[in-house]
Order: sequence, then structure tokens, then C-alpha cells
Amino acid sequence: MNKAKRQAVIAGNWKMNKTAAEAAELINELIPEVSGADCGVVICTPFTDLPVAVSKTAGTNIKVGAQNVHFEKSGAFTGEISADMLTELGVEYVVIGHSERRQYFGETDVTVNKRVTAALAAGLKVILCVGESKTEREQGITAELVALQTKIALIGVSEADLANVIIAYEPVWAIGTGLTATAEQAEDVCKGIREVIASLYSNSAAEALTIQYGGSMNAKNADELLAMPNIDGGLIGGASLKAPDFGAIVKAASK
Ligand code: PGA
Repeated sequence: MNKAKRQAVIAGNWKMNKTAAEAAELINELIPEVSGADCGVVICTPFTDLPVAVSKTAGTNIKVGAQNVHFEKSGAFTGEISADMLTELGVEYVVIGHSERRQYFGETDVTVNKRVTAALAAGLKVILCVGESKTEREQGITAELVALQTKIALIGVSEADLANVIIAYEPVWAIGTGLTATAEQAEDVCKGIREVIASLYSNSAAEALTIQYGGSMNAKNADELLAMPNIDGGLIGGASLKAPDFGAIVKAASK
């Protein structure tokens, strides 16, 4: 982290976990765990939990995010949720391009880009996920692939709008597997992303960008990952569902 230059943000990605009643319980536990945080704190819940998440976190330091958004404003898109639907609820963030969306639901770099621009236009803050598979890492194309994902996702995004974007580097092979990228591997890719942003925009935009690591980040490995200069926080899956674990990661980012 380099808190002099940019904000550290810890975001929980609850994935398809927690009914609204269970979400209310977890948020009650989370509030005291993160109340003294010296970093941004976000929880990205299932759509059905968003109203309770927004009302329960009102007046606290926890911000609420969704896990996806459609790119059209309205219309015949059965099952989809628009950016305006989210902002009207009081949702501030949205995760876009998570590898599970890419892997299981046909998301492409092009649809990720459409979602990013629609979300930003509606005033949402975007957590844009990029990352390579195990095969891609073995093929030695991680840097190129992540650069391409980043560049395509940000087509049409102005430097002013970039201030509302966080990039989460999530190696697919580390998500939910218990395998974490080493701090050096994660730093290497996060640094590469910052260089891509510098080339697309400016040095100052790159310096100000919050870049998270995600993939089996937990209370034990958070310190080491967050000690890296280009890792400004985390996108936390499994460990975000346990209040003490999430609280410990937030505390690590608050140092
Ligand atoms: P994990 O998930 O922490 O359970 O590996 C991270 C993510 O998918 O955002």
C-alpha cells in the first residue's frame, strides 16, 4: 500500500451466499469489527440483500456494492438489473468482470467494457476484475493478458471517470482454492497494471488508482500482500463471510 498516494480499500465479495436475514446478522457482526478502519470498507452482496445491506450500514463506514450490473438502461433483458436500479437503492459500488462471470456466464472483455461505462455513467464506483487462468500463467502470458483485459475494459472511460474505478487483480487459479499468489507475484502484476494505466492516461492517474489483490486473501496472508507498494487492498471472497476474518483483513489495511 502507499496510503500517501491512494486510498486502501478492502471489499468483501459475498458471491451467492447469505439470504437477506442472514445478511442482516453478518452485517451486525461486521459493524463493530470494522468501525475504526483507516481504509475503505465495502461489502458486495447478492442483489436480494442490497436493501437490507444499505439500511443496516447507514451511518457506518461500510459501503455497499452489487456483484454485477447490466449495460442497458432498461428493456427486455429478463433477469437483469440496471445501474439506475442499483443507485436508487443507495448502492455505491459494483463488481464487474469477476472471473466467475467470465467463466460461467459468458462475460467477455467487450461486455465487461459495456458494463463499466454504463455503471460509471450512472454514478456507480466500479471494482473491475482482471486476472489470468493457471494455463495462461504457465504459458507466460499473464502480463500481456491482464494488460489487454484492462485496456479493453476501459475503452471510453475518461481520466476523470477513472477516479471512480478500482482494479482488482485476481488470478483465477487463486480464487477459492486456498492457493494465494505470492506477494511478489501479486505485486508484479499490480505494478504492471499501474504501468498500463500510466500509458493509457497519465502518471498521476496511475499513482492515484487503487489496485486490489484477490484470491484466497485471508487474515494470515493479508499483512504480507498489503506490504507491497502496488497492492492497495483486497477483494475478499471466502474470508468476507466471517466477521472476525474480514475484520482482521480490514485491520491489516488500516496500519
Ligand atoms: P476468495 O475469492 O477470497 O474466496 O478466493 C476472491 C474473489 O473471488 O473475489
